[in-house]
Amino acid sequence: MTVEQVDYGTFEASLERSRKLEEDLKENPGKYRILTGDRPTGRLHVGHYFGSLQNRVRLNRMGVPTFIVIADYQVLTDRETFEAISENVHQLTIDYLAAGLDPSNGHTFIFPHSHVPELNQLLLPFLTLVTMAELDRNPTVKEEIAAAGLKNINACMYTYPVHQAADILFCKANVVPVGKDQLPHLELTRTIARRFNNRYAKDRPVFPEPQALLSEAPLILGLDGAQKMSKSRNNAIMLSASEDETAQLIKKAKTDSERVITYDPKNRPEVANLLLLTSLTSGRAPEEIATEIGDGGAGRLKKLLTESLNEYLRPLRARRRELEADPGYIRQILREGIEAARAEAIKTLEEVREVMNMGL
Ligand code: TRP
Repeated sequence: MTVEQVDYGTFEASLERSRKLEEDLKENPGKYRILTGDRPTGRLHVGHYFGSLQNRVRLNRMGVPTFIVIADYQVLTDRETFEAISENVHQLTIDYLAAGLDPSNGHTFIFPHSHVPELNQLLLPFLTLVTMAELDRNPTVKEEIAAAGLKNINACMYTYPVHQAADILFCKANVVPVGKDQLPHLELTRTIARRFNNRYAKDRPVFPEPQALLSEAPLILGLDGAQKMSKSRNNAIMLSASEDETAQLIKKAKTDSERVITYDPKNRPEVANLLLLTSLTSGRAPEEIATEIGDGGAGRLKKLLTESLNEYLRPLRARRRELEADPGYIRQILREGIEAARAEAIKTLEEVREVMNMGL
């Protein structure tokens, strides 16, 4: 079958394509359909908010139809615990809604993929379009195996990127806002779309080749200032944290021994990260904030950040509390998302069977 190999591509090339796409989205939002998503592994934190959520809300408000897949099957690629999946799906949905994704606008659909059987069925034809060697070479999968220290690797770990292609292609999405680590999966999705069309649908392509939209949001470090903010690394501020919890966490954040505050991301990553968060939540430049604090030191910086972050998140957290008190509403949002996703998936699977000569 070997046609051309999956080209896992360069970051620069993707960034270049992504910038062009961003321009065109502004001009022609009607040409596009967005799909993006997350694994339901817990609540979202401030790093998620500035890294991806905010960007999704912005694109959604341009009027682009937005499908958000909650990838519950994918949770089981690197862990065995499933007890919290349903609760996590609810919490994730609450975070989405509180952040400003609004299904009542009629073009926003949130759904767990386990509830969309026709989406999952696309996995089977797609699996025939990739080789074991290609799955084995996926750099993100390799990193995840290493990060989780897996001894027994289940087959879903190798095949979930193909399932992810089904997540994206079932609704013929052509734009996928993602972080850098997801680029290999997107390259694989493009390859699957291309191979499917070439083999089964030469005259009338079934699938678009979706493009990655890379967020240019800066990477938010955790409160240790050493690595990406993440709940499992215990360095995160959750969107759901109270104002007091937020203050306590920031108080314990790592800084350095220099008294005078300066914005120097290279040499002073911990201080720079706190300045960046203050900047993102106050709308002022980090350099300006640093100058103002001067020899007020880390104590002054932390106080300022606590105030501006808590103030920034106040409306989101208030909305979050309301939503948390109304589980029936969350279920309704998910049911509506599932219904819309299924309608798309049923249509697509019918087309797929037709071109594959599996019609009755
Ligand atoms: N693999 C993604 C992650 O780990 C989650 C995901 C599943 C996803 N399906 C997707 C992301 C489709 C974008 C598009 O974060």
